[in-house]
Amino acid sequence: MRAALPLLIASGLLLAACGDDGPTPATHGGAPQSTASAEEARAILAGFGEPYLSADIDQGRQLFRRCAACHTISEGGRHRVGPNLHGMFGREVGTAEGFPYSPALQSADFAWSTEELDDWLANPRTYLPGNRMSFAGLRSEEDRDALIAFLAVETAR
Ligand code: HEC
Repeated sequence: MRAALPLLIASGLLLAACGDDGPTPATHGGAPQSTASAEEARAILAGFGEPYLSADIDQGRQLFRRCAACHTISEGGRHRVGPNLHGMFGREVGTAEGFPYSPALQSADFAWSTEELDDWLANPRTYLPGNRMSFAGLRSEEDRDALIAFLAVETAR
């Protein structure tokens, strides 16, 4: 078993190196989010297709903690530092009512789809330059797929 130790250390380092430099996860309370049943989630994700249909929603739920400091997702949830994201798929960028968007988001012209969201989450800074979302981005495609699947389900209900 001697060889296993350096391997463990190496993989630990690798994991640490892969962590992105986003803000620390939200630790404050807040109302618990209701969660969809597995059937409900599958029915919603069927409309989105792969890779979201087979993405790991629980992984997405964990990842959403990084967003929750600034965003709520439930219907009628209040704006925090960022806008409430309920119903965001298919919605024109920068149009959640009552949120003071930056000119960058106000002047952008598209509706949120999984593709747009994937690009945004990979690197918010370069995707819509001048925006005010201070989040470094999720480099892992698997993480983005999981988070987008979670959002697709939880912002739709
Ligand atoms: C530090 C706070 C912060 C964090 C963390 C954060 N956001 Fe944001 N987000 C914002 C702000 C502020 C805006 C509005 C930016 C602007 O107007 O330029 C925004 C905008 C958005 C929008 C556009 C919404 C719309 O109505 O067009 C989406 C989608 C979004 N964020 C998703 C996420 C997701 C998913 C995460 C987690 C991976 C996340 N954000 C993390 C602050 C944050």
